[in-house]
Amino acid sequence: KGNFIVTIDGPAGVGKSTLAKRLAKHLGIAYLDTGAMYRSLALHAGAGVADLSDAEMREMFTAYSYALKKEDDQYALYFNGKKIGEEIRTEKAGRLASVVAKIPEVRKALQKFQREIGEETALVAEGRDMGTVVFPYAPVKFFLDARPEVRAKRRYDELTGKGQQEKYEDILQNIIARDEQDRNRAADPLAPHENAIIVDTSELDIEGVFQELVRHCQIVA
Ligand code: C5P
Repeated sequence: KGNFIVTIDGPAGVGKSTLAKRLAKHLGIAYLDTGAMYRSLALHAGAGVADLSDAEMREMFTAYSYALKKEDDQYALYFNGKKIGEEIRTEKAGRLASVVAKIPEVRKALQKFQREIGEETALVAEGRDMGTVVFPYAPVKFFLDARPEVRAKRRYDELTGKGQQEKYEDILQNIIARDEQDRNRAADPLAPHENAIIVDTSELDIEGVFQELVRHCQIVA
């Protein structure tokens, strides 16, 4: 049924983005970063969305749009006609996204946008609920995991590499808090789909994980 979809779910800092991007390129299909959708919405609407009624929230979303566009050999995500950029890649935006992502009406609206994108094009879709809720029929579903300390170290290296000044301890606390929030929320908590291929990346480097993902995709293709 429909387009070929690969889902990659997992907690913060596990390497989903890097791997999803590489896998999409390898398979020659589009890459959808759903965390970027929550982050851009959170930065735009602020924590105040939590106070809106369901009706007000639905009204708000009628004015919003998301689009995935191919530019050269990259895929860019647009929010309300504007390309989403590096401004969403901060710890603060991640925290705010996680708060906004608890709201069922927000999830429903973004999941609808995500399904529409999946109806247009084959995808590697990355997030928290891609396999469990948005694309449960996807033929390949991955769930990546790693110890919080390993993920905090990776995120620390990534952020300091980009020149952002963050303390390792703060990142670790942020990761633990965000995990807690994402795994225990009532609406679509972070969890593997029952058919997901679970990969613990704590002891593997990106290359090792990538090869494993490719291998599983070949079995299905
Ligand atoms: O993946 P990323 O760290 O960019 O996601 C930011 C936050 O957005 C997550 O902590 C999570 O709360 C939320 N999110 C979600 N469902 C998704 C993707 C992201 O709830 N599919």
